[in-house]
Amino acid sequence: MLRVAVVGLGGIGRTHARWYAENKNAELVAVCDLLPERVDPVAQQYGVPAYYDLDKLIASEEIDAVSVATAGPENGGHHYEPTVRLLDAGKHVLVEKPISNSIVEAREMVQRAKEKGVLLGVNLNHRFTPAAARAKKLQEDGALGEVLFVNMALWINNPNETSPWFHLRALHPHSIDVMRYFGGPITKVQAFLHKGPGRTIWSNASINMQFASGAVGHLTGSYDASGLHPIERCEVGGSAGRFVIDNVFERLEFFPRISPEKLVIDNPIMGGMEGFGQTFRNRIDRFVEQTSSGGPLDASGEDGLAAQEVIEAAIRSFEGGSVEEVSG
Ligand SMILES: NC(=O)c1ccc[n+]([C@@H]2O[C@H](COP(=O)([O-])OP(=O)(O)OC[C@H]3O[C@@H](n4cnc5c(N)ncnc54)[C@H](O)[C@@H]3O)[C@@H](O)[C@H]2O)c1
Repeated sequence: MLRVAVVGLGGIGRTHARWYAENKNAELVAVCDLLPERVDPVAQQYGVPAYYDLDKLIASEEIDAVSVATAGPENGGHHYEPTVRLLDAGKHVLVEKPISNSIVEAREMVQRAKEKGVLLGVNLNHRFTPAAARAKKLQEDGALGEVLFVNMALWINNPNETSPWFHLRALHPHSIDVMRYFGGPITKVQAFLHKGPGRTIWSNASINMQFASGAVGHLTGSYDASGLHPIERCEVGGSAGRFVIDNVFERLEFFPRISPEKLVIDNPIMGGMEGFGQTFRNRIDRFVEQTSSGGPLDASGEDGLAAQEVIEAAIRSFEGGSVEEVSG
């Protein structure tokens, strides 16, 4: 039984707590937030102690693993401090995305986990769907052939105006992680950005990429779209066929190169994913399973860092009008 806690109890931390509580191989033993009004109702709901200070939680509870669901600037500015304190205390950590909005901090977090010999995962939940798993199997079975191109799009409605790079750093860890999941490491980036009407931040992006394999990729992103219609499309073209995952988990289509028959798998109406919220369940269940068996983790700290390295290269490319190498 993995003994877990959740730090940061906004809407997302409460979602983590819910899925830990429902996982039969995990026991939610404590919750922590700086704000009593955030943590107390959750503690009451699950019958576990509430902490307002992370050091007290670490000193008082026997815990194996902790979700860090804080937010902060660019939705990741508050992740570093609690994560590093937990890693230093020998706890495995699942941190929300972005791993950090600061690339320096993100690198340190990954390094610290390595030094301490503990597991660090990132909640890159978009790849934890049956559609993505089936597409991965097509790839592993050779049906796709060699990956030639990846076309990714992720559009949602987020009117928040924070930093110029908020859209890139906070949203696109997800899309870039899915691209890397199928295409492997990304080495070169060229970005064009655009501000939507009335916006002060770069809320639209068109980014060209090259993978280490030589395959090419493209990402379209927006914070000026609707969350009420499909938000994501992932197309991967290979030498033997091409697949499209529509709207995260709703449909997988595979088009073999040499046959007119295509494979279509819709999310089943019974027993399928009930909504986007279930991506959190799938991700957390995998984190519990892989942490319990000593790792390694899917969507690891390294993966979270790699996505942020691509984003930082995109920012450099846009500022310099250049094609940028991805660090790391
Ligand atoms: N994976 C996804 O699909 C997805 C979707 C939306 C948001 N998110 C991510 O989830 C995270 C949380 O989002 P949210 O909307 O719940 O944020 P939020 O601001 O509502 O909640 C964060 C909470 O963390 C607490 N906190 C901050 N620093 C703390 C510390 N040191 N110790 C204890 N508590 C602390 C705050 O008091 C607050 O209650 C963000 O990083 C965001 O990017 C992920």
